[in-house]
Amino acid sequence: MQIKLLPETLINQIAAGEVIERPASAAKELIENAIDAGATRIEIATSGGGKSLLRVSDNGSGMSRDDLELAVRRHCTSKLANGLDDIRTLGFRGEALPSIGSVAKLSITSRARDAFDGAEITVVGGKVSELRPRAANTGTIVEVRDLFFATPARLKFLKTERAEAGAITEITRRMAIAFPHVRFTLSGTDRATLEFAATGDDRLARIAQVIGKDFEENAIELDAEREDIRLTGYAGLPVFNRGNAAHQFAFVNGRPVADKLIASALRGAYAETIPSGRYPVAVLDIRLDPALVDVNVHPAKSDVRFRDPGMVRGLIIGAIREALSRDGDRSSTTAARSMMSAFRPGFRPQPAQNWQPSASPFRPFSEVATVGLREAAAPMFADMLVPSARGEAVAAEMVSEAVPEQPESHPLGAARAQVHENYIIAQTEDGMVIVDQHAAHERLVFEDMRKALAAQSVPSQALLIPEIADLPEEDCDRLMEHAESLQALGLHYERFGPGAILIRETPSMLGKVDVQGLIRELADEIGEWDTSSTLHARLEHVAATMACHGSVRSGRRLRIEEMNALLRQMEATPGSGQCNHGRPTYIKLKLSDIERLFGRS
Ligand SMILES: Nc1ncnc2c1ncn2[C@@H]1O[C@H](COP(=O)(O)OP(=O)(O)OP(=O)(O)O)[C@@H](O)[C@H]1O
Ligand SMILES: [Mg+2]
Repeated sequence: MQIKLLPETLINQIAAGEVIERPASAAKELIENAIDAGATRIEIATSGGGKSLLRVSDNGSGMSRDDLELAVRRHCTSKLANGLDDIRTLGFRGEALPSIGSVAKLSITSRARDAFDGAEITVVGGKVSELRPRAANTGTIVEVRDLFFATPARLKFLKTERAEAGAITEITRRMAIAFPHVRFTLSGTDRATLEFAATGDDRLARIAQVIGKDFEENAIELDAEREDIRLTGYAGLPVFNRGNAAHQFAFVNGRPVADKLIASALRGAYAETIPSGRYPVAVLDIRLDPALVDVNVHPAKSDVRFRDPGMVRGLIIGAIREALSRDGDRSSTTAARSMMSAFRPGFRPQPAQNWQPSASPFRPFSEVATVGLREAAAPMFADMLVPSARGEAVAAEMVSEAVPEQPESHPLGAARAQVHENYIIAQTEDGMVIVDQHAAHERLVFEDMRKALAAQSVPSQALLIPEIADLPEEDCDRLMEHAESLQALGLHYERFGPGAILIRETPSMLGKVDVQGLIRELADEIGEWDTSSTLHARLEHVAATMACHGSVRSGRRLRIEEMNALLRQMEATPGSGQCNHGRPTYIKLKLSDIERLFGRS
C-alpha cells in the first residue's frame, strides 16, 4: 500500500462533510461571512429548501479581484491576524467557501468598496474558473446551486424541502437576534418572505420582531458579572415556557452558539419552575476575554469551550434565579393582563343593540363589545359567586371579627370566599386576588420539601398497604439504581420481582399520594436526567415532581381561617407566585381594572 497526498477537491469534500452538513449550514457560513465583512443589509433567497438555490447578498466591504481568487482556496483567510487566542470574527478557518465549492455549484460576484468594477468567480464541484468582470454594487453576492450534487450520498440524507427551508429560517432568526443593527430579509419560492428591519442598539426590539411582541411583557432583563465574564440578555418568565428549545438564543462574544453547557445551565436555572419537556425562552449574551474561550472546537463553530465552565454555569444560573425571584410577582400580573384583554378586546366600540346575549351561548368573550359587557359581566360574576352566597357567606362575615388586624393590607389580602372548591377570592387594599389553591399548595409543599432536603431530614410515612407498580424492566432498573438517593426524599421502595417495584413509604409532607402515578413519572424523569447536573439539583427536581402528586388541600373546601393561613404562608414563601409547572398561583386584579371592566371609568 502506498501513501498518497489526496487531491485538493477530495480534501475539500472531506472538510465539507463536517462544515456543510445541510443547506442551513451553508446559509450560516455565508451570513457569517457577510457579517464579518461589515454588512448592514443581508438578503437571503432560497428555493427547494436551499438545495437547488441559496443566495446571500450583502452590502459589506466586498473583495478585490486578487482576494476573490484566494477566497475560494483552502486555508486562505483574512481573519486570523492575531492567532487562535484572539478571535474577534465569526469565521477564522478559511475553509467555508472552498468546502461549499467542492460539493456544489458556487458563484461569487464581488466588488470592493474602492474598486471601479466587480468580478465573478465560479467553482463547480471543486473546479475553479477564471475571473470574469461583472457590473456590481459594492458588496458580495454568493450563489450556491445544486448543493451536494457532487456528493450524492450526502444529498440522500437531507430532510424534506420544507424542513430544510425551516432550518434556514432558524439560522436567520438566530443571526438576526445576534446582530440587531443588520437588516435581514429571507425570501424564496419555498417560503413566505421574512423581514427584520435594523433596530440599531435596541436588541429588545429585534427580539420582538423574531420571537413576538409578547416577549417583552414576559421577560426579565439580565445583567450580571463574575470575574470579568458578563452576562446580559433576557430570561423569559417560567409561565412563558415553550414546547421546544427554538426560543433559546445564546451568544458568546457575539457568536451564536448551540452549546451544551449553556443549555444545561438554562435547564438548571428553571429546574423547579418549568416541567420537564417544556423549555424556557431566553436570550443570553455572554462576553469575556477571547483568550478565555476556545471556539476552535468543531468545524461548525457553534460549540465553544470555556476555560472555566463552572463559573459560566454559575453565572447563568445565579443571574436567572436572582432575576426570577426579584420579579416573581410578574407571572401573576401577566396572567391578569391577558385575562383583562380577553374581556376587553381593545374596546372595539359596537352599538349595544348588536349584541344579543341569547344569540349564541358559546360566543367567546373576546367578541363581546364593551357596551354589552356590562350586561354580560354581571351575570357571569354572579354565577361565579354562587357558591359563596350559599356556603361561605357566613364564613365571609366572620372575617371582620376573626381577624382583628386588617388583612387587606397584606399583599394577598383577606380571603372572602372559595369558589368551585379550588379558587380563593381575596380582597386587597386596591383590588382583588384569585388564588389557584391547588397550584399554590403544590408550591408550598415543594418549598417545604426543599427545606427538609437541605436539612437532610425528609420525614416519610409508611403506606398502610404497600403498593406495587408494574413497570418496564428498564424503568425498574433505573429506579433501583437511584433508590438510595430517593430515600433521602422520603420515598422508600424495593424491587418486587421482574417488572415490578414495591413502594413502602412516601414523604409525609405529600399527604395522600397517587403512588403509581408518582413512581411512573419518576422513572421517566430519571431517564432524562442530565448527567452534568448535581445530585442536589436532581433531587430538587424530584421534589417538584413529588409535590405535584401530593393532594392534601386541593379540591377541598376551606374555612376562611384556613384560606387566610394559606395566603399568609404564600406571602412568606419566596417564589410562591407560580407553581412548579410555571403557571401562576394567583392573579391580581386592580380595582381600577375591575371598574374599567364594568365601564365605570
Ligand atoms: N461576503 C463576503 N464579503 C467580503 N469578503 C468575504 C465574503 N465572504 C468571504 N470573504 C473573504 O473570503 C475569505 C474566505 O471565506 P471563508 O468563509 O472560506 O473563510 P473564513 O470566513 O475566513 O473562515 P471560515 O472557514 O471559518 O468561515 C474570508 O476570510 C474573507 O476575506
Ligand atoms: Mg467564513
